[in-house]
Amino acid sequence: MKVLMINGSPKDNGNTARALAEMCGVFEKEGVEIEYFHVGNKAISGCTGCAACFKIKKCAIDDVVNELALKLEQCDGVVIGSPVYYAAPNGTLIALLDRLFYSTKFDKRMKVGAALVVARRGGCTAAFDQLNKYFSISGMPIAPSQYWNIAHGALPGQIEEDGEGLQTMRTLAANMVFLMRSIDLGKQAYGLPEKEKAVRTNFVR
Ligand SMILES: Cc1cc2nc3c(=O)[nH]c(=O)nc-3n(C[C@H](O)[C@H](O)[C@H](O)COP(=O)(O)O)c2cc1C
Repeated sequence: MKVLMINGSPKDNGNTARALAEMCGVFEKEGVEIEYFHVGNKAISGCTGCAACFKIKKCAIDDVVNELALKLEQCDGVVIGSPVYYAAPNGTLIALLDRLFYSTKFDKRMKVGAALVVARRGGCTAAFDQLNKYFSISGMPIAPSQYWNIAHGALPGQIEEDGEGLQTMRTLAANMVFLMRSIDLGKQAYGLPEKEKAVRTNFVR
C-alpha cells in the first residue's frame, strides 16, 4: 500500500505539516509506504485551459505537476492537506491540483482520497469541501473520520493544543488504511466496476 501525501502549505513545519505527520504515524505503524510532496513556495502556474493534455496525456507546462502525476498514478491513496486561506485552500495548491487532476488521464477510480485543513478559526468546511471535489469527480472514495478533517492553530505548532483535531487525523489515517486494504481485496475478487463511455452534455442551448 502506498499513500501520496501533499502538503499545500508554504510552510515546512507549520500546522498542516503537523496534521499530516499525525497521519504518517498511523501509516508507518501499519506498514503503509509514504510519498510526501510539499508545495512550499514554488511558483506554480494555474491551468491555462490549453487542452494540450488531451493529446499529450500530461500537462503542457512541464513542471512539478508532471512529476507528481507519476506518483499519483502509482499510489493507492492520496491525502491533500491545506491551510485555510480566505475560507479556501491555499491558492498555489489549487493551481497545482487543477492541473494535476485535469491533465492526468489515467484511471483514478478506487484510489482512496482524504483531505484535511487547518485554520486559525473559520472557513474550514468550505475549504474541506473544495478539496473533496477533486476526489468525487475522479471516482475516488473519500475516507471518513470521526469529525470533518479539521484542526485549529494559527502560529506553527499551535495545533498541538487541538487534541480533538489531532485525534481526527489519526482516525482518518486508520480508516484510510482499512479502506485501501478492503478495496484491494475487492479489486482482486471482483475487478473494477464496468465503465461506460463518458457522455458529455454541455449546458449550452
Ligand atoms: C493569506 C492567509 C489567509 C488566511 N485565511 C484564514 C481564514 O480564512 N480562516 C482562518 O481561520 N485562518 C486563516 N488563516 C490562518 C491559517 O489558516 C493558519 O495560520 C494555519 O494554521 C496555517 O497553516 P500552516 O502553518 O500549515 O501554514 C490565513 C492565513 C493566511 C496567511
